Amino acid sequence: MTDEGNPELKRVETIYDQIAPEWDGRQGLVERLLMGRAMRESLAGVLHGDVLEIGTGTGPTLALLAENARVTSFTGVDLSQGMLDQAQRKSSGLPFPVELRRMEAGQLHFPDAAFDAVTASLTLCTVPDPALALREMARICKPDGLIAVLEHVRARNPILAGIQRMLTPLQARMLGCHLDRPTDRLVRDLGFRVELDTTRFFGIFHLIVAKPPASPVPS
Ligand SMILES: C[S@@+](CC[C@H](N)C(=O)[O-])C[C@H]1O[C@@H](n2cnc3c(N)ncnc32)[C@H](O)[C@@H]1O
Repeated sequence: MTDEGNPELKRVETIYDQIAPEWDGRQGLVERLLMGRAMRESLAGVLHGDVLEIGTGTGPTLALLAENARVTSFTGVDLSQGMLDQAQRKSSGLPFPVELRRMEAGQLHFPDAAFDAVTASLTLCTVPDPALALREMARICKPDGLIAVLEHVRARNPILAGIQRMLTPLQARMLGCHLDRPTDRLVRDLGFRVELDTTRFFGIFHLIVAKPPASPVPS
């Protein structure tokens, strides 16, 4: 890990370590009420081959992969060992190998083009530098592989965007999460070749399925 000297990473890690045991109940409610369970099911359905997830948390996506016969392995990384410990409970009995490792999304310790599918759910809102994390996701994904991002983003509606901007300082303090990041635009600006972008809840939640950029993303 290289986050030892980064106070923001340490702060976020501590928050998620503390909240880990109650995360599923809390997040499950948000998912049901705002995002809808179908979005995560769709995410789980598009993954295939050797899958890497950044910010895997307690493993809500992993838990849905039992039904997906196209997945051959799952590697989940997260800053928080507490969250990974919860995910570990969901990994037994799955029909493919599961590896869970503590790792920072901005510096993934995997070779280039190591995975068939690289995914992130509700994590690019929390990492300190989403562009850096997306570059790393592109680097470790095979050139014809799949990038799948499930995320809440800044609303197009100015009133909703204003509410998100107002709530973000509190949300960032409590969970390290930024409600108002334009992650859907960032994905396109970085050159990811978007094949599908479905939205929910006033266009705030997006499921983006893309191919990595045709050439390496400049930093
Ligand atoms: C909002 S939770 C989402 C977890 C899970 N993906 C889900 O959908 O429920 C964000 C997760 O990202 C992790 N995280 C935050 N910053 C990170 C970073 N820089 N590198 C790796 N993981 C990070 C947190 O520890 C937490 O588990």
